Amino acid sequence: MRRRTAPEGFDPAAVRPWNARIDGLGYGGDYNPEQWPDEVQVEDVRLMDEAGVNLVSVAIFSWATIEPVEGELDWAWLDRTMDRLHDGGVRVALATATASPPPWLTRRHPEILPRLADGTVLHQGGRQAYAPTHPVYRDYALTMAARMAERYGDHPALALWHVDNEIGCHVPRDYSDAAAAAFREWLRARYGTLEALNEAWGTAFWSQRYGSFDDVLPPLAAPTYANPTQQLDFDRFSSDALRDYYRDLRDTLREITPHVPTTTNLMASTGTKGMDYFSWAADLDVVANDHYTIAADDERHVELAFSADLTRGIAGGDPWILMEHSTSAVNWQPRNRPKAPGEMLRNSLSHVARGADSVMFFQWRQSAAGAEKFHSAMVPHGGTDTDVWRDVVTLGRALRALGEVRGSRVRSRAALVFDYEAWWASELDSHPTQAFRYTDQVRAWYGALWKLGVTVDVVHPGGDLAGYDLVVVPTLYLVTDADAANLAAAADRGATVLVTYFSGIVDERDHVRLGGYPGAFRDMLGVRTEEFATLQEGETVRVVGGPLPEGAVADLWTEKTHVAEGTDVVAVYDDGVLAGWPAVTRRGTDGGGAAWYTGARLDEAATTALARAVATEAGVLPEDEPAVGLELVRRHADDGRSWLFAINHGPAEAAVRATGAELLTGEDVDGTLTVPGGAVRVVREG
Ligand code: GAL
Repeated sequence: MRRRTAPEGFDPAAVRPWNARIDGLGYGGDYNPEQWPDEVQVEDVRLMDEAGVNLVSVAIFSWATIEPVEGELDWAWLDRTMDRLHDGGVRVALATATASPPPWLTRRHPEILPRLADGTVLHQGGRQAYAPTHPVYRDYALTMAARMAERYGDHPALALWHVDNEIGCHVPRDYSDAAAAAFREWLRARYGTLEALNEAWGTAFWSQRYGSFDDVLPPLAAPTYANPTQQLDFDRFSSDALRDYYRDLRDTLREITPHVPTTTNLMASTGTKGMDYFSWAADLDVVANDHYTIAADDERHVELAFSADLTRGIAGGDPWILMEHSTSAVNWQPRNRPKAPGEMLRNSLSHVARGADSVMFFQWRQSAAGAEKFHSAMVPHGGTDTDVWRDVVTLGRALRALGEVRGSRVRSRAALVFDYEAWWASELDSHPTQAFRYTDQVRAWYGALWKLGVTVDVVHPGGDLAGYDLVVVPTLYLVTDADAANLAAAADRGATVLVTYFSGIVDERDHVRLGGYPGAFRDMLGVRTEEFATLQEGETVRVVGGPLPEGAVADLWTEKTHVAEGTDVVAVYDDGVLAGWPAVTRRGTDGGGAAWYTGARLDEAATTALARAVATEAGVLPEDEPAVGLELVRRHADDGRSWLFAINHGPAEAAVRATGAELLTGEDVDGTLTVPGGAVRVVREG
């Protein structure tokens, strides 16, 4: 396999900023001119100008157009596209064209096709039919990337490299022979010896002891539960293998164009479990994310906000690129939904409020053929006499008016801890309940803070917590000693830390921390759970005490928890087998902080009440609770300027205290900002 390393003498400081060649905020989308005749492409550039588009992603799925037959390359159309876009003032995030291998490649080399756990081969005919670890595929992909860099590296329209596309989207886990071989290599590197692997995987159980690395396989379809640590390690390996594929492509590009920035579009949200993006971040010159709202989710704007905050967390607080979202309906959900009036603008500016310096869509022009013809676009099937197009033009105008926020950052004193490894491990099979979903718990706490108007950073458990007065830790089932100590240190130096049920249970090998739950957090929280009491569907238990509202209940999960001396019982179970046992506890720390615990999955009202209590204690609750549905976020520039984004997701007019210049309407705001139902306002404060 061809493997690239960063070219000798590569200087990260010499990589130019992704937006060096555009003014203000980026605006545009995926552009697929190969689907259209020339005259449409000419019209495209004219319409891009009308909409204020300045950045498009090109050639994502173009391999088969560039190279329809092995070795026969047709660059003419792409040359024309690049020149035309440049002449029209539009810059390009140019793809490596590797997102889908052409049909001749998979016919000639069927061994590069990926496989499911049950052995099913995933054939060509859709997209992404490749095994990222296969040396033959890797070689072809690197060659393609190198050709793109050689041909367009000096093109004045080139802004950045867009490596592959949503790596791992359709095939986050490949169980092919190539993957198995790479998995064994990865395990050797992680464990060194077979003995260490046997110990970590607990293979004394069920006759699983390995006598040779050659006997180790991915967790293929098996008669019953596969070894949990094998499954967890395969998750880790798969994320690393996909990242390794990205790195090889990036280093190929870097060798040829060392100053052109490189990224790939992540899919950070509550819906994408496959990749540990925190571990990918350092490899991207700028973090880029794709996000789609889920039609069936009534609070999809809150999930969107979480995705944006997670993306910013992955980016370490730096501004990032929203690489894709939709102007209206998508085509891939069970029941799709067009966006309501104003929703597209609200969605776009919520991303900007939370750190995006670019707003892009899939895709520029709605396809007439293919699997995505019913997916909305910036230029819909109906053309320009449509609300979607008018909204696209309006958004372009809004983004130009907001150009000055570019480079500014969100500042937050509250953190929500999020971890992909904990997600993977907590949802493994053979657990106390199969009904637990990590992101349900994350969403519950994120949503409560969102409604209270508390802006949070979404951070890794090992992240720097120094600036946070409130740290919320939703179910962190797996945690390393170092990360647990990091969280305890936050409480010790004065932060309020809240941990929820089924946390601290196992170490990184998925071995239970003995002596009572929540293992790694027992001392910090001053509690000891001796047994979980998971509940049946529809079963609830009353919880009373402290800040909890009348009628509060827990469902799904409760715990039989003892408190240590010095730990206060805040609320108890009021009925059921655990009647009288602690449900919410608090332990003050010498540093003036506190460590709160709840062993229960609390209902929404109780979660909000507890969130309000800890946010109040930490001093992070805003003075005025925002009106229902009003999203308030600030971006700050280093020079002291700040912008208040007020996004009204509700139907009724809402007011908020603000003073300064409103950038979308041009009005002066003196003390009170009024935001009509469904509208967005952005005030440059001061
Ligand atoms: C993304 C993908 C795009 C397009 C879009 C549709 O996953 O990157 O190519 O398929 O979804 O929503």
